[in-house]
Order: sequence, then C-alpha cells, then structure tokens
Amino acid sequence: MWAPATLIVVLLLVGGFVYFGVFNVAADSPHIRPVYAFLDVLRNRSIVMRARDIEVPANLTSPERLAKGAGLYSEMCSGCHLGPGIEKSELSQGLYPEAPDLTKASGLTTAQKFWVIKHGVKLSAMPAWGKTHNDELIWDMVAFVDKLSTMSPEEYKRTTESAPADHDEMMREMPGMNKDMPGPAANPNEHTDHDHKDHDH
Ligand code: HEC
Repeated sequence: MWAPATLIVVLLLVGGFVYFGVFNVAADSPHIRPVYAFLDVLRNRSIVMRARDIEVPANLTSPERLAKGAGLYSEMCSGCHLGPGIEKSELSQGLYPEAPDLTKASGLTTAQKFWVIKHGVKLSAMPAWGKTHNDELIWDMVAFVDKLSTMSPEEYKRTTESAPADHDEMMREMPGMNKDMPGPAANPNEHTDHDHKDHDH
C-alpha cells in the first residue's frame, strides 16, 4: 500500500522539479556543493574506468611530439586552458565548469589525459578532439600538456612560436578534413584550376 503511494509522490516531485524549472542551468550559477561533489566523482570514475587499458607510447617525450603538440595547443587549447604567461581570455572566464589550469599538476594520469582529450567531457565545454584528430596527434597534445607544469612563460612562448606551422597539413590527412573544408588558400586555387579547365574545353 505504501510503496505505490511513495512512488507516485516521488514521480510528482521529480516531474515538478523539472517542469517548474527549479534547476538553474545558467553557467554563472555554480552547483551547490553536494551536486558538485557528485558530478566530480561521476566524472572521475568514468574517466578512470575508461582509460584503464590505454598504453602510453614509448616516444611520448620526443622533441618532435613536443614541438607538434605545442603548435596544436596554442592554436586549439590555450583560449580556454590558457598557459604559462597567458592572460585570461573572455572565453575562459565564462566557462562552467571552468577549464582546468593545465600548468598545475592534475589528478589525471597521462593515459587519462589522452582519454579526456580524445573523447571530451559531456556537459562541459571540453570538446572530443578525436572526432577530427588521430591518436598520434592526440598523443602530441598529451606530450605537451604533460610538460606544461614545468614550463616557464619564456619557454612556453619559445616552444609555441617555433612549433611547426603545418597544422593544416596534418589536418588535410584526416578523414573529413580534406578539401571539402573551406581552407584559407586551397579553395580559391581549386576554383581557378577548375575555371581554367572549363575554358580549355
Ligand atoms: C572551449 C573550451 C575548451 C577548449 C578549446 C579545450 N578545453 Fe580542455 N577542458 C575544458 C573544460 C571546461 C574542461 C573541464 C571538463 C570537466 O569539468 O570535466 C576541460 C578539461 C580538460 C582536461 C582534463 C584536465 C583535468 O585535470 O581534469 C584536459 C587534459 C584538457 N581539457 C586538454 C585540452 C586540450 C589538449 C585542448 C586542445 C586540444 C583542450 N583541452 C581544449 C574546456 C576546453
């Protein structure tokens, strides 16, 4: 007798909570502590269990990886995660959850960082970079991120500025990122070639 009545009350409460918009989804309204703690454990356990079988490549600390990772990081990550000597951006200040400061030692292992970068984190601004980058490129990013905690602003500047400027080249080899993407230089040239051919015929 009690069980069905309790169930109905619970369902009405949950329904009311949702329908009346009690939960505030605003990014400028932080979670209350128990909710934050729950989500934190949920996220951490999810990452730990899924990264268990990932093997870190032996050449992770190679200078080539680091150099490539530096270019990728400054282009795609520093807007949210900042870096040594990097001023807060408008983007980084509005995020909730915040993008962690990767120059501080994180609770994540190298393999777990790889997992997060590849798959992203639901309901946060962290994108799944694996949709557009292969594992090798993601390891390059991990290599650089692993180094960030010991990097001075000068070193950061030097490494990112001297990084190979071939991100577009690297991306061209990725499925879905070829000439169909409006590249800055590639498309106008293609059009010219095409037009020429049409004229020749
Ligand atoms: C649009 C903003 C944004 C961009 C761009 C972004 N991130 Fe993130 N990142 C986040 C947020 C937000 C989190 C926190 C997610 C969470 O709370 O679980 C995060 C989490 C992470 C973490 C986990 C850190 C930890 O200790 O918990 C790593 C590693 C990471 N990002 C690396 C990267 C790399 C590498 C790039 C670039 C390829 C990148 N991120 C680009 C927003 C971003």
